[in-house]
Amino acid sequence: MISNFISKGINGMPTIPGDKSISHRSIIIPSISNGICEVNNLLKSDDVLHTLKAFKSMGVDIIENKKKIIINGKGLNSLNESKDEIYLGNSGTSARLLTGLLSNQRFKSVLTGDKSLSNRPMNRIANPLIEMDAKINTTNGSLPITIEGGNLKAIDIDLKIPSAQIKSGLLLAALNIKGETKITEHKITRDHTEIMLESFGADIKIYKKDNKKIIKIFGQKELFPKNIDVPNDLSSSAFFIVSALINKNSHIILKNINNNPTRNGIILALKKMGAKIKLLNERKNNNENICDIEVKTSNLNGCDLGPEFADLMIDEYPIIAVAASFANSPSIFRGLKELRIKESDRLKLILLNLQNCGVDCKSENDDLFINPSQKYEIKKNLIQTDFDHRIAMAFCVMGTRIGPLKIKDAESINTSFPTFISEFNNLGGNIF
Ligand code: S3P
Repeated sequence: MISNFISKGINGMPTIPGDKSISHRSIIIPSISNGICEVNNLLKSDDVLHTLKAFKSMGVDIIENKKKIIINGKGLNSLNESKDEIYLGNSGTSARLLTGLLSNQRFKSVLTGDKSLSNRPMNRIANPLIEMDAKINTTNGSLPITIEGGNLKAIDIDLKIPSAQIKSGLLLAALNIKGETKITEHKITRDHTEIMLESFGADIKIYKKDNKKIIKIFGQKELFPKNIDVPNDLSSSAFFIVSALINKNSHIILKNINNNPTRNGIILALKKMGAKIKLLNERKNNNENICDIEVKTSNLNGCDLGPEFADLMIDEYPIIAVAASFANSPSIFRGLKELRIKESDRLKLILLNLQNCGVDCKSENDDLFINPSQKYEIKKNLIQTDFDHRIAMAFCVMGTRIGPLKIKDAESINTSFPTFISEFNNLGGNIF
């Protein structure tokens, strides 16, 4: 796929699809609740469809309409053994959350994934579950994973690795454990699971102590059903936001975007860089913050982002690195260790591809340094993505300024944003 240079800017109101993290949870939690849940605006991307298929294969009654899905949950112990292995494609969220949930069901499950997912670390979720007596066998710490479901014991868990996927996997396991499971988090991670579990009536208490977040969950309480309106995805919006910022004569409005404070680092960071971004109609839906976002072409300054930003915007470094390449001063992004084990080694690919685009950048101790210039001379116009959707979309945006750039394995975009190319071209993009 090729993303070409554009001269007239990005203008209009793209339709951003439903949030990926919330969409996964909007299948998982209703499937183990007690009653009928209608889910509107579910993201129908490859990753989420793998979660949907997994629950259908475990016997959950799910009806898919054009606009909504209807899930008829039958309770915490209603899932049945899937007759086949559960294939989760590229989706780390499905893999970590399902490992937790399935470790105390009364049957055996085998989880598999594509080449990229099969290289990602799974001990981070398996080890705390094994401490709770789970019987999990990984393949050298990765997928395929075999889970012999059984009773787990309630324990106190200190979450050393900041990860919403680990936290959520443990919370889903705890739902079906007798007694109190306590999770202590040292750093902020996205809290969609806690928000949704509270609204489904889980027995959950959340409070702060000594700058740490404590979550206590008392298991074996059935969840009641609730309808869900999935808000639109800020991470997907970020590609449009940065395109508008770095291209002359641009003006876009994005509607109904999730602006959860555990995840809005990209907005804070871009504002720190001088971006003309306005949040409009700020409101709440099911305890998730929602807003509309107006963005205009801006002169960006470079910025120094500490590791606390990595907690709030880990998925947005590929695209903010593109923004920083068009700022009028250097940027430093610190503490990006977790970027190395996402859908690809994102730190490596950001560096490799920016350098091939002619950008002066380097990394030292997991910090990323970008020294922007007025004009770039492309050294190699083939973008290596290692099948990582966010690298592919970030370099489509890069292409709007310096293209043509050839994006390898761009089908990966379907994992999170199947309509990206048509929405982008509708606004003035030139991808073919
Ligand atoms: C996600 C959590 C984050 C994020 C991923 C989605 C989630 O991963 O990078 O894209 O839905 O819980 P970690 O939990 O590994 O930080």
